[in-house]
Amino acid sequence: MFARTAITVRAAAAVLLLALTGCGNAPDAVAAPGGPEGRLTLGFSQVGSESGWREANTKSIQDAAAAAGVELLFSNAQGSRDRQIEAIRSFIEQRVDVIAFSPVTETGWDPVLVEAREAGIPVILTDRAIQTSDSSLYRSFLGSDFIEEGTKAGTWLSDLYIAAKEPVSVVEIRGTENSAPAIERKLGFGAAIAQNPNLKIVASATGDFTRVGGKAVMEDFLDSTPDIDVLYAHNDDMGLGAIEAIEEAGKVPGKDIVIITVDAVRDGMQALIDGKINYIVECNPLLGPQLMELAKKILAGERVLQRVVTEETVFERSGALAALPDRQY
Ligand code: AHR
Repeated sequence: MFARTAITVRAAAAVLLLALTGCGNAPDAVAAPGGPEGRLTLGFSQVGSESGWREANTKSIQDAAAAAGVELLFSNAQGSRDRQIEAIRSFIEQRVDVIAFSPVTETGWDPVLVEAREAGIPVILTDRAIQTSDSSLYRSFLGSDFIEEGTKAGTWLSDLYIAAKEPVSVVEIRGTENSAPAIERKLGFGAAIAQNPNLKIVASATGDFTRVGGKAVMEDFLDSTPDIDVLYAHNDDMGLGAIEAIEEAGKVPGKDIVIITVDAVRDGMQALIDGKINYIVECNPLLGPQLMELAKKILAGERVLQRVVTEETVFERSGALAALPDRQY
């Protein structure tokens, strides 16, 4: 945080600049960096600390800010959209140079993003998309293609059961309700498994992207759904929680029940190596360096792509064995 006088001077400078340009959203309508020693100040609102992926994402952003000499105002919303909106309002009041956030849910952002635009503060979405009728409310969206992740999971499963003669029962543990990854990973997966008429989703519930949530949902599934063949969990943590439930029920994860997850964090990769998970679709949390680069370019008045898609791969056991020693998260 910086001193109130500095905020006041920067606010006045920004108002003057906006008055001179007459436009709050053009690439050249942003104030010169105004943090300590003229450093760029970035307000970042994080979803929470729900998963290994999220921890790695937070660390990546904090490390990259330090390396890039960016003054980072970091706020953890602990899974609450209201807290994220409060954090964004506080960044606006503090006159940060750029606001970035990873939205907990897809909807409900327009009013606060209009406030940011009126204050002349550019916004970058990281990791998750929002639903809005006005895409000029943010400058860039940096993150994964979640539909593609779901498609990769579903295509692998369709191929695995290509020769199946009988129905295959699939249960699904979804991420946080109304979040972009939960919506899109379901969509991509559903469309891909539709290629194989034997694959049927027989139960689906949210585990909120947490290990505890994944375990609780899987316990319910095991109680209520006979003969589960496949589990598709929208992240590693929920898959790992589900594995605990499966083992406690006397079944063998990865053999009695085929398991597919998304993320490829270290614990997930270890479970893949141990044969408890069969396939992982990678979701890369290391967005920090690209985020700092985007923020700097925007502040410099350069045009940036409105969508920057993260490069990702998939893992079976052999790939996990090769990748784990150098895995950063
Ligand atoms: O938005 C990315 C998702 O959020 C990750 O897949 C999940 O682990 C996290 O909590």
